[in-house]
Amino acid sequence: QTIYRKDYTPPSYWVDTVEMGFDLDPAITRVATRLTMTRNRDSRNKSLVLCGEALELVQLRMNGKPLTKRAYTLHDGTLEIFNAPDKVTLEIETLTHPDRNTSLMGLYVSNGNFFTQCEAEGFRKITYFPDRPDVMAKYTVMLRADKKKYPVLLSNGNLIEEGDLGDGRHYAVWEDPFKKPSYLFALVAGQLVCQEEKYTLQSGREVLLQVWVEEGNLDKTQHAMDSLKNSIRWDEERFGLELDLDRFMIVAVGDFNMGAMENKGLNIFNTKYVLANPRIATDADYAGIESVVGHEYFHNWTGNRVTCRDWFQLSLKEGLTVFRDQEFSADMIGTDSGRAVKRIEDVRVLRQAQFPEDAGPMAHPVRPDSYVEINNFYTVTIYEKGSEVVRMYQTLLGRDGFRKGMDLYFQRHDGQAVECDDFRAAMADANDRDLTQFELWYSQAGTPRVTVDTHYDPVGRKYELTLSQSCPPTPGEDRKLPFHIPVKVGLLNSHGSDMPLHLEGHAQAGTTMVLELTKEKQTFVFTDVPEQPVPSILRDFSAPVILEIDYTDVELAFLMANDSDPFNRWEAGQRLAMRRMLELTRDVQDGHVLADDDGDEPVLTESFRAMLDATALDSAFREFALTLPSETVIAEQMDMVDPQAIHTVRRFLRRSLASALRIDWLVAYQSNRTPGTYSPDAASAGKRGLKNLALSYMIELDDIEAHVLAQTQYDNANNMTDRLVALTALVNSNAPGKVAALDTFYNEFENEALVIDKWFMLQATARTTDVKAVRKLMKHSAFTLKNPNRARSLLFGFCNGNPSQFHAVDGSGYAFWAEQVIALNAINPQVAARLARSLDRWRKYAPVLQGKMRAALKQVADTKGLSKDVLEVVTKSLAN
Ligand code: ARG
Ligand code: ZN
Repeated sequence: QTIYRKDYTPPSYWVDTVEMGFDLDPAITRVATRLTMTRNRDSRNKSLVLCGEALELVQLRMNGKPLTKRAYTLHDGTLEIFNAPDKVTLEIETLTHPDRNTSLMGLYVSNGNFFTQCEAEGFRKITYFPDRPDVMAKYTVMLRADKKKYPVLLSNGNLIEEGDLGDGRHYAVWEDPFKKPSYLFALVAGQLVCQEEKYTLQSGREVLLQVWVEEGNLDKTQHAMDSLKNSIRWDEERFGLELDLDRFMIVAVGDFNMGAMENKGLNIFNTKYVLANPRIATDADYAGIESVVGHEYFHNWTGNRVTCRDWFQLSLKEGLTVFRDQEFSADMIGTDSGRAVKRIEDVRVLRQAQFPEDAGPMAHPVRPDSYVEINNFYTVTIYEKGSEVVRMYQTLLGRDGFRKGMDLYFQRHDGQAVECDDFRAAMADANDRDLTQFELWYSQAGTPRVTVDTHYDPVGRKYELTLSQSCPPTPGEDRKLPFHIPVKVGLLNSHGSDMPLHLEGHAQAGTTMVLELTKEKQTFVFTDVPEQPVPSILRDFSAPVILEIDYTDVELAFLMANDSDPFNRWEAGQRLAMRRMLELTRDVQDGHVLADDDGDEPVLTESFRAMLDATALDSAFREFALTLPSETVIAEQMDMVDPQAIHTVRRFLRRSLASALRIDWLVAYQSNRTPGTYSPDAASAGKRGLKNLALSYMIELDDIEAHVLAQTQYDNANNMTDRLVALTALVNSNAPGKVAALDTFYNEFENEALVIDKWFMLQATARTTDVKAVRKLMKHSAFTLKNPNRARSLLFGFCNGNPSQFHAVDGSGYAFWAEQVIALNAINPQVAARLARSLDRWRKYAPVLQGKMRAALKQVADTKGLSKDVLEVVTKSLAN
């Protein structure tokens, strides 16, 4: 049941038009579909193939006549019609049961309203259809439903007719003027209200923008609306891309598998990425909404107008669209340091989640060669690494060159379903560059390692930089060919300033250059170098690689204090802290008990102090620079992971830094307050970030002073960011008010699902929360496995966000994990398969833990009735 990229064949029939009529009823919804189809002359496959899943087929007519049972076969979700003529009109009537659909794919009910999710293969749960992205058609949709229960009826495109049907029911007809693949189909019906606005495009055309939510949430839609308007303007300015519809709708739904979905003209969003006001949303939530609204909007061109030929090309739209949303968010911050902070944030996600994926059993190329269940491939590799690959074009070709490539891409492929190679060809052709080798970024999995060797010749005033690359094997790929890697570099003189660069054989000058590493090993020679420089390599994280370079602690402190490249400035601090934590972890594993003087590490402490006191730098930047690498990122650095040792050491180092820099933290806390009305803008959010980081350090000391600070912040906060951080601090301390605070928080926000998610999450990730405590939280009346956000808060919070407890030596965490994966599998395979990934890196742990993890994986794998989603994940984990 593995599907291979090499087996792609074009469809046997094209679909020209789709007409659908829905009689919406939660128990049984009747769907009548009329398809006009034309044989594809380029296809050798003669029979007409449609996909269908969990459907009751009531009627099937071809060219006006009922199809006899002998004219088609129907098994395993495939309906095959033999000997069909070149022109076909198919009429299909199917029944579905939306209220029993807990998979949240296809047509389902959430809090009494109807929603759809069709990407990747959900449309086949609505009707029989050639449900593949290279089949693009024009849709007309009529929705019929009870008028009282479902006053709002929405689908893609333009509303062309609506009216009463008598008998208490009404209807609406929607027509989408653009051809689209079935995965972009959507409908919404129910009791919803909207904030709407007329917006004038740069061309002068007026469009209608709407954000639809449940009644009672209209006080939480302004930020989504603002983000939408900013996205529209940004795409016009940066890429010359205009909204092609007269009406653009966003709808929020509380039960949703992912973040959001770019259905043509009718984006459907997880409430988490729409609803915000200062009372319920944190700074991170505001930023998340801006980026996801942008992401889905940008898909209108990169995904919808130009779509994917097949699902192996998923990163064609996702990598590119993530790149676009990252650039959008960076531009919204405005300042240069803001851009850098956004870059650091994005790289943190990559290292936290994508590097482990790339080194684990589910490693796959940005353009995979095979899959069992496509839903398992909506991964950080497809999205985030995919975005890094797109970013590298911009690094290699420059912003203008990248724009030329984008223009050519749309000129060539508007209205088509294409491959990643087509994008690469557009970039190459528009810039007259050979990007053949660059294809390896799409075809090879694994994170390349780049090592650096340097040699300075004071007499010849020459500096040699030797870069070597290698890439460890990944499942099914033993040997890797060298990648085309852009390596941005600078050289610092002893005063900490950038030297002018003269690369031998190159005219180009400046203080930062992009070196192109294409071979296994290459030496770059800089001339006229007056003194031994300190190299700053991979500036702005110019490629998704692991950079191995030997710096002394003093050099790292020097870079942290001086590098003109903010990314590398941050990076130097991370390396310094990482080195110290790995040393201490080894000590702890050797049986050493950490004592106060182990924390006296002058280079690290003094660099941190300098950073805290460098008030000329952005607060947001300083916050990141003063945050230690996460436990997960530390774990990736170890050959054999010891979660308890890592946790002990990271906490110990935080406590040492808290105590050594006590006054500095307090000063940072006081001077980064944001009094007055709350605003989520980047500057204010940055201040809160640093202030709250200071609080989180101070609470490590667990003394009265810190308790009072946290309690006071909790009591006086006028926004959720300060509220939540204070509550988290209290819960992770022995402050007397912690239990009361948890209760008041719950009671105050009982009716705000998104806030209750936070309440579960912060307990799931709290230091003292063990499996027993999680089981108790699962019994709470507000907990349910059926709501993905809720399940993620508690279960993913614990299994992914609380490593030292999850990896308890008795294996109780793994047994719990297996139970929950099995329970979720029966409800929602997609969510279950995500949770199943929590044991991905099991081979990296000590043999005792490994054995227990393997047993848990086996227990899941041996379960009857396992979805292919979960089966694929656990089978691959056990095999690799
Ligand atoms: N295309 C959506 C996005 O990235 C993600 C939808 C994925 N949904 C799924 N069930 N696999 O914005
Ligand atoms: Zn996307």
